[in-house]
Amino acid sequence: MTTIKLDEVQGIVFSGYNKYMANASYYLLRIEDAGKTKAWLKNLVDSGRISHGAEKPDDTTENRLNLAISYPGYCKLEADEAKRYSFELSFREGMNSEHRSALLGDRGPNDPGKWSWGNGNKEVDILLILFSKDDAIHAASCSSFEKGFKAAGLSKIDRLDAGAKVQNQHGFVREHFGFADGISDPVVDGFPTVTGTGEIATGEFLLGYPNQYDGKKTQMPVSEQFGANGTYLVFRQLKQNVGEFWQFINDEAKRQGIDPEYLAAKFVGRWKSGAVVAPGEKTDPDKINNSFTFANDKDGTGCPFGSHIRRANPRGVGLGENEAESLKVANRHRILRRGRSYGSFLEDPSQDTGKDERGLLFICLNANIERQFEFVQHTWINNLKFAGLYDEDDPLIGSALETDRKFTIQDEPLRRRVCGFQQFVTTRGGAYFFLPSLTALGMLAAS
Ligand code: HEM
Repeated sequence: MTTIKLDEVQGIVFSGYNKYMANASYYLLRIEDAGKTKAWLKNLVDSGRISHGAEKPDDTTENRLNLAISYPGYCKLEADEAKRYSFELSFREGMNSEHRSALLGDRGPNDPGKWSWGNGNKEVDILLILFSKDDAIHAASCSSFEKGFKAAGLSKIDRLDAGAKVQNQHGFVREHFGFADGISDPVVDGFPTVTGTGEIATGEFLLGYPNQYDGKKTQMPVSEQFGANGTYLVFRQLKQNVGEFWQFINDEAKRQGIDPEYLAAKFVGRWKSGAVVAPGEKTDPDKINNSFTFANDKDGTGCPFGSHIRRANPRGVGLGENEAESLKVANRHRILRRGRSYGSFLEDPSQDTGKDERGLLFICLNANIERQFEFVQHTWINNLKFAGLYDEDDPLIGSALETDRKFTIQDEPLRRRVCGFQQFVTTRGGAYFFLPSLTALGMLAAS
């Protein structure tokens, strides 16, 4: 089992703080005066304000604070070209660059030119994530931070607030379409919650440790002392068109004479409760299971090949000659999800007038953006030819096709096809960040 220097690693790597921290705000900040920002950063690190993995989760702690930096932000703090160049290419180019946004499917309604932040004069230098125990503490903490931004040489581009958490009967949070979220995350070697050896190498999520790909350390920014125990953080504001999703599901289910809950579950690959859709099943069994490989569903008649969860992690079927080979390949492309929903939660989706925005503040962590997040988004989620399919992307979140989208549901005796729907998720902003270790934050402050 790998030993991780837990007090070096920012806390969000190990936990999304869902249990104890009811509130979360995401500050998108621009550095206006690098000297002042460095002094502010030094103070945050020296005073122990940045959360780390050795802190014990408890219900008396008032806040947890995590801080990440974009490439433009890093360049404002660090003049050394060689150091800048040592970061991974995708991070340096940025999510909004021509090449990468094409690769991610950020075209048409998702184009960076239409984003509310993360592009043009709203490019972010620092992402400050503030979690708090309750509303009153959060309001006071936000106000105190905001008052200090000017003296810290920072200006606020925006503040994104997570919405109130809605939990299902098993304690999982519900995302806006109504499904349990946060069920499947990789079991990572050396993480505090893992007993024994985890199935995924530490180096997939933390720099400075052997990875899953070739057993070596993933490329990291220099120096070793700066890069180790850091990781990359992908942040995307994904608007969910809840009313349109359920309107389409209800109409289509009626047309096909099937249950809307069943059709929607096929889109996701899990029932609302979080149970994976198994072959022959027509109603939600309300049983959570995450230790499956799809070996009992090789034909996709339970969880369709094109469904969201089967694209996002195909597990033990389809990527290699046998189950073990397929799992090996799938496990080179895992991500750690740490996002939260934003906007008010609708009990009845027909109330969605489209006026109030709601969606997911998607955050994932990975040691290599290109091989992990971008691969999942491009080669699995948005791939029109995924798993023998030929003209469809992820029915829930895909953005490869703008209109006239399609979804195939493998079934006996004949497959079903669902046609003619729109995108249900729109990218509203985003950026790539580096989440430095505590030592690296101190080094940045002193640079
Ligand atoms: C608004 C956007 C999204 C919604 C509503 C959504 C919803 C869901 C739901 C309901 C699950 C099943 C529950 C779970 O295992 O936690 C899930 C799983 C997952 N999603 Fe998403 N998701 C969204 C965006 C994304 C994006 C952008 C990615 C990556 C590019 C992604 C990757 C994954 C992965 C890796 C899993 C776990 C698959 C597994 O291991 O079984 N999701 N998502």
